[in-house]
Amino acid sequence: MQLEHQPEIVVLQDPEAVAHFVVSEIIKQVKLKANSVLTIPTGKTPERTYELLVEAVQNGEVNFDKVTLRMLDEYACLERKDSRTFQNHLRRKLIDPINFPNDRFQTIDSWPEDDFPEEARRFENLIKRTPSDLTILGIGQNAHIGFNEPPARPTDRTRVVQLSDDTLRANKKDISKHGKRTPEFAITQGIGNILESKRIILMATGKSKADIIRQAVREAVSAHIPASYLRLHPKTIFFLDRAAASQL
Ligand code: PGA
Repeated sequence: MQLEHQPEIVVLQDPEAVAHFVVSEIIKQVKLKANSVLTIPTGKTPERTYELLVEAVQNGEVNFDKVTLRMLDEYACLERKDSRTFQNHLRRKLIDPINFPNDRFQTIDSWPEDDFPEEARRFENLIKRTPSDLTILGIGQNAHIGFNEPPARPTDRTRVVQLSDDTLRANKKDISKHGKRTPEFAITQGIGNILESKRIILMATGKSKADIIRQAVREAVSAHIPASYLRLHPKTIFFLDRAAASQL
């Protein structure tokens, strides 16, 4: 039985305020430790955060010269040049605009030369000795964090996962452009990797996240609510807008 903590919950006016607060946390972290390792998510929620972060780096408000950026998850079976990979998304939104170098960007390959389990092992070996200083997360409609779909275990490591029907439905709108099939598998950092991070920020905005945020914060910690495991971590902050916090 692990000790449960009450996560810090910060409720803000709107998604814009959430993005500003998350950026200021990132800046604080990097000022405190220049060579911080930051795990970063994809998805719609952090898009504004990345815009603001790009501005902060370009304005010289924060220096990313020693930072390592680490992917949280990636689709499996998308060609590397496919614009839908999380890596390409992060490159467009953050990596390229700040000229962030490849040797400090820890990526998961969507189309590895070897097989996918081998790619998951390679990434696990790369990250396991240096836990992230700060991990930023979104949350799925089914309470997944990264692609840790329910049921998830708090000991799970980086591995290949099959995406749930809920996630496939949520992704379909965004990803199956031009009649292309939606990826059904992914590689994700496990809950175990996430809980090893020194600090964790979960960001959620909009009414569609309200019920799942209530479950993650109020219901019993369980495999069926992967984000509820964040309550096993003493330094987790939830940054929510009023809509996402409306059922708390
Ligand atoms: P979203 O995705 O930011 O696009 O809502 C979050 C997630 O599925 O983890």
